[in-house]
Amino acid sequence: MKHIVIGCDHAALDLKNAVRAHLEARGFAVTDVGTYTSDSCHYPEIAHRLCGKITDGTCELGILICGTGIGMSMAANKHKGIRAACCSDTYSAKLTREHNDANVLCFGARVVGEGLALDLVDIFLDTKFSEGPRHKQRIDLLAAIENGTIDAQ
Ligand code: RB5
Repeated sequence: MKHIVIGCDHAALDLKNAVRAHLEARGFAVTDVGTYTSDSCHYPEIAHRLCGKITDGTCELGILICGTGIGMSMAANKHKGIRAACCSDTYSAKLTREHNDANVLCFGARVVGEGLALDLVDIFLDTKFSEGPRHKQRIDLLAAIENGTIDAQ
């Protein structure tokens, strides 16, 4: 069973708690990196904490929620080895696992309702990367950009 890490800022506390309860009801091991109160906080700090749990191998996949999902995805994508996708439709949540091998799902508590959010989570967690060279070579190119080893032509 996958170990999932979740995090949010103050704009998404209630939705993060709903997602956490949903994941636990499904039997996932869940690490919650906060925030834990409605006090204003900084989404890059939460994203940084969450990404550390993935890059150190503690957790396989992550879910980050802020007001729009955009700030969280920007912050998460600054981390080596993190492929974060901000999704507000189920097709994108599925395809970002199949094609991009996304390891962090982001969405906005001010954008999606709880029902859609839980569908996004389920689809993201239940979809596997499409193994094989077609998508792998593109993931490798993303890593090359990150590592500065890509040919600029
Ligand atoms: C907080 O007000 C808001 O800026 C944050 O939750 C997020 O939407 C940023 O992208």
